[in-house]
Amino acid sequence: MKVFINKRIPETGITMLEKAGLELIFPEKENLSYEEWINYCKNTDTILNVGGDFKYDRHFFDTCPNVKAIALYSVGFDHVDILEATQRNIPVGNTPDVLSRATSDVAFLLMQSVARRASYNFQKVKDDHWESFDPLHALGQELYGKTLGIFGLGRIGYEMAEKSKKAFGMNIMYHNRRPNEEAEKELGAKYVSFEELVKNSDVLSIHANFTPEQKELFNASIFEQMKPNAIFINTARGGFHNQKHLYQALVDRKIWGAGLDVTNPEPMPADDPILALSTVCILPHIGSATVEARNGMARLAAGNIIAFSNNEKMPYCANPDVYSHHSS
Ligand code: DGY
Repeated sequence: MKVFINKRIPETGITMLEKAGLELIFPEKENLSYEEWINYCKNTDTILNVGGDFKYDRHFFDTCPNVKAIALYSVGFDHVDILEATQRNIPVGNTPDVLSRATSDVAFLLMQSVARRASYNFQKVKDDHWESFDPLHALGQELYGKTLGIFGLGRIGYEMAEKSKKAFGMNIMYHNRRPNEEAEKELGAKYVSFEELVKNSDVLSIHANFTPEQKELFNASIFEQMKPNAIFINTARGGFHNQKHLYQALVDRKIWGAGLDVTNPEPMPADDPILALSTVCILPHIGSATVEARNGMARLAAGNIIAFSNNEKMPYCANPDVYSHHSS
């Protein structure tokens, strides 16, 4: 069975696939164009997909009918038309859990960086603008006892809430598709409406799966309703927020600061004026970028491919319905 892997992943995953006797195909160069990527996909049975550069949509599935399974090297699957894949009996694997710690660490890091204006102050040192002690300049805010609002309290949101509670005694509230009993019991998290979350959070952190219906859900009208001291954190997907509106809300002091590990667009231009603001910290989508998380992702993605090649269910599957579909 041929496996197309569009970018090198940690050796642990490659070794698993080689030991399983699979034929691995790597691209001859980095940064494939859409056409080059499609040409590789046309000639393969399975894909181990790294990154979200290209969409797995109806056009893709029509053009590459030989593809029978896709193992994503990510927990997010917003670049795949899951319905279309399921209708075509194509399982789509993903990599949950192994990156929850690393990604929530980045949300926690951004929250603190923004609260203490770390990026701005670091830039001052680099620019040789280390001025004399000023009791009034570049003051941050403390997080102790403040309210953290989590939008989408799953595995990553839980970890962020737990860290924030332990470190700063933050009160946790959340908005989700369904209540999270563990978070309510263990962290005293309170389920609230979306409106309450927006209005009452001192820090609002997004940890939900992105769907097209939620495109730019966080826009001017939402920032308008937030607290003036609020910090907006997005480590989920850039599509959740309108970045121009976010910039304006910060300039107009509708909200206080923003920490982003995902941007809209992504990558974002280096001359975006939001980068000049002192209560902003922006990272280039590094949520899962630890040795531990990336090795874990490699093991899960390779395990999904191997299970498929053995006619078994993928252990981590974003469209488990595909299996009920098969047997019906
Ligand atoms: C994920 O796993 O979804 C990360 O955002 C990397 O794409």
